[in-house]
Amino acid sequence: MRQIGEINISPIGLGTVKFGRNTNVKYPHPFDLPSLKDLRVFLDLAHALGVNFLDTAPAYGESENRLGQLIAKQRHDWIISTKVGEDYQGSSVFNFSSKHTRLSIEKSMKKLRTEYLDIVFIHCNDNDLENLRSTDVISSLRAMQEKGYVRYIGASTKTLAGGSYAIDNTDLVMVSNTSSQLPILEKAHTKKKPTIIKKPLQSGFSTNIHSSIKKALAHPSVASIIVGSINKAHLRANIKYATSL
Ligand SMILES: NC(=O)c1ccc[n+]([C@@H]2O[C@H](COP(=O)([O-])OP(=O)(O)OC[C@H]3O[C@@H](n4cnc5c(N)ncnc54)[C@H](OP(=O)(O)O)[C@@H]3O)[C@@H](O)[C@H]2O)c1
Repeated sequence: MRQIGEINISPIGLGTVKFGRNTNVKYPHPFDLPSLKDLRVFLDLAHALGVNFLDTAPAYGESENRLGQLIAKQRHDWIISTKVGEDYQGSSVFNFSSKHTRLSIEKSMKKLRTEYLDIVFIHCNDNDLENLRSTDVISSLRAMQEKGYVRYIGASTKTLAGGSYAIDNTDLVMVSNTSSQLPILEKAHTKKKPTIIKKPLQSGFSTNIHSSIKKALAHPSVASIIVGSINKAHLRANIKYATSL
């Protein structure tokens, strides 16, 4: 287990885009959404293999709603991150206002059937620095954190300027596993802020899964890498490899 503040988190987390959305996604192959029954078996397997971290978002279609149905009775077994700022209504819509941030958190808690969220990331678009610096999203999240609805706040960023601002002003940052993001991992490490790696397998386009997992887990700032999957054999293989490192 690795640490995000007081949270113990598994080095491999589960990305749940494929739990709830199969339109306008950038995976190599089309797929049907799994049944709730199949997802229950999948989550039970993930838990048995030592995974305790689930990453979701309002922009992932039915993902939050389905996770809520699946884990309501085992809420304390899981660390859940969701996001604010992006909604998906056939296409992406962004809103980082205070009002939208509050409403988004309330909706996420209702869908996830929980009274608190472990981590909330700001779901930035290409203008991540503007999203973070020129809106009230960070102060709104801090207010929700003070009220106890959210344990840690972070941002999922794209640019070096956005990632750097997130490190200075939030608790953790989520970035892709590309060499261009190395300065963010380095700065986070220096500032003792954890990082999370998104899309560690290049959304399924990786030609060497082991090397992608090894590279994503390598930097000492990385608390967890969120691997998207709805395939039990892939999940088993990914965990087996990660635990052999
Ligand atoms: N914050 C953001 O802006 C943002 C953006 C993108 C993603 N994310 C988060 O990051 C998570 C992961 O990203 P992602 O789902 O785009 O990409 P990813 O984790 O890089 O790759 C997922 C793809 O790899 C396949 N895969 C997994 N294990 C495999 C294996 N052992 N062998 C072959 N293929 C394998 C999966 O297919 P199977 O289902 O067949 O295993 C899936 O299609 C998302 O679910 C989401 O939670 C965040």
